Amino acid sequence: MDRLTVLSPAKLNLVLDILRKRPDGYHELRTIFERISLADKITLSRNKTNKISIRCAHPHVPKGPGNLAYKAAMMLRNDFSISEGLDINIIKNIPVAAGLAGGSSNAAAVLSGLNCLWQLGLGNSQLVNYASRLGSDVAFFLYDTSFALGTGRGERIKPLGLKVKLWHVLVTPKVKMLTADVFARLKLNLTNKKDNVNILLPFLRKGDLERLAGALSNDLEPAILSLRPDFIYLKKKLLDAGATGVCFSGSGPSVFACVGSHKHALSLRAKFDRRYTQSFVVSTL
Ligand code: C5P
Repeated sequence: MDRLTVLSPAKLNLVLDILRKRPDGYHELRTIFERISLADKITLSRNKTNKISIRCAHPHVPKGPGNLAYKAAMMLRNDFSISEGLDINIIKNIPVAAGLAGGSSNAAAVLSGLNCLWQLGLGNSQLVNYASRLGSDVAFFLYDTSFALGTGRGERIKPLGLKVKLWHVLVTPKVKMLTADVFARLKLNLTNKKDNVNILLPFLRKGDLERLAGALSNDLEPAILSLRPDFIYLKKKLLDAGATGVCFSGSGPSVFACVGSHKHALSLRAKFDRRYTQSFVVSTL
């Protein structure tokens, strides 16, 4: 096999609880990940050079070592003393630096794709090990599950075997937000900290959309809004337009709404001005 094409989906965080700052500078968190239908397409092609190259038409995607997909390939290539080169072609549909973990998902797709293409024989726990060295959100994408509980930095994954399918409108302002900048603005208030994961989980298990929508939460929201106070209007606009629940995903600026049907999602999306935002109708994958 000389070439392999894989889908690389985005995620949403239905809940993001930040528990404490750790001695290593990261934050201990608890989250529920949802894999969604918005996806990049990655083609891995062996080549005769001894280089790894990234091709992507999106201007904000790094083409060298700043790209997690490049780092993932480099790690495997070094560890397994692979001498041949590799082209990584990324068709970018997921907004960049937007709280959707597009770069992390690309890295996971490269890890599992190269495991096949280079016939490395790595098991899932070994791939997860590589994933956690690359970033906190990478490991989730190595599990074949629509929903998962994430703990630790977000890299410890427990798949939730749920068959629920949710519909969302996802709105992403055309502004990049760096995760580290958002975390740096976080003011931890740990008094009476609610266990938002366990509040939401029963509603997700039952597919109780109304209660689920009311239980969405993200502890990074005050930090996101301290960087961009105007984004509160985005949430308000979705709610005013009839969304049942609205929440930021990850470190933002993407905001998503839960809606009851594909049809409702389409009519809601039509209300967003394309000059300032990118908007998508997505479902659980
Ligand atoms: O792990 P990742 O490289 O995606 O994290 C980017 C940045 O986000 C980290 O450097 C850190 O500042 C912050 N972060 C954190 N706690 C986490 C995950 C990320 O503080 N659990």
